[in-house]
Amino acid sequence: MDFTTSIAGVRFPSCFMNAAGARCVTREELETLGRSQAGAIVTKSMTLEPRQGNPEPRYYAFTNGSINSMGLPNLGYRAYAALIPELRRFGKPIVASVAGFGEEDFVTIATAINASKPDLIEVNLSCPNIPGEPQIGYDADVTERLLKRVRKVVTTPMGVKLPPYFDPAHQDKMAQILDRVGVEFLSVINSVGNGLVVDLEKESVVIKPKGGFGGLGGPLIKPMALANVRAFWKLFGGRVPIIGTGGIASGGDAFEHLLCGASAVQVGTAFVEEGTGVFERLESELAVVLGKKGYDSASACVGKLKEL
Ligand code: SIN
Repeated sequence: MDFTTSIAGVRFPSCFMNAAGARCVTREELETLGRSQAGAIVTKSMTLEPRQGNPEPRYYAFTNGSINSMGLPNLGYRAYAALIPELRRFGKPIVASVAGFGEEDFVTIATAINASKPDLIEVNLSCPNIPGEPQIGYDADVTERLLKRVRKVVTTPMGVKLPPYFDPAHQDKMAQILDRVGVEFLSVINSVGNGLVVDLEKESVVIKPKGGFGGLGGPLIKPMALANVRAFWKLFGGRVPIIGTGGIASGGDAFEHLLCGASAVQVGTAFVEEGTGVFERLESELAVVLGKKGYDSASACVGKLKEL
């Protein structure tokens, strides 16, 4: 089965990759991804300075999903800028995820990371876990201003990691902004922000930061992810490639993302839970689904969702 895909002119050996955030902070984790069957190495979202992140416990898996409030633990952009050329030896695309606290941070980081020549730059507009910092992707004016500034300094294909939207008017508005800015791909969606999980035995929250509020991931968010993939695929008429993220725990889940319009998929919770073996498992499960349905490649079914 052919799992290759192409995003913004970059060829990926497999349409499966890690989601930014999942086991991709340290050199060791990034090298492990390099040796794995993942179709790319996606870095943790990087900030100006190294960060320890939020206090622990900050990740909790439960039936049907996970909640996290990691707080952007990362090595700082200088370390990733130095690492990216070294990661080239694995012969697969490198996706650099850029975050920040304020427009100036994004511009500084994007400039340096662009010079280190990753294959794609994913601008993270949607981290829900920094106390006092709103998700940028929910503010249309800030998003447009910030992306226009970043666009000017980035020559690498540039995309955005969006939060989930729950209203077509918001998706519409965001698509217009992204069109004006000229982004080359979308990553859809980040975790569903500020959920709350309760341990009824302990009568307690399950993670420490922000009083227990955190980003939800895993199977329970798949319908929100699919809806956003589909909405943006339709809004752009399939012209802007989409990386689908959210609730991919089986080959069937990946197939659903592809049908909705994703050209590739990122795996978060399932990768955290299973490790790199998840990429082989998902590929073999997707091969079975595609084969049964008469598709000879993953790309053949992209966007083919039927409406009633
Ligand atoms: C985190 O580090 O808190 C998660 C990052 C994200 O959701 O973008």
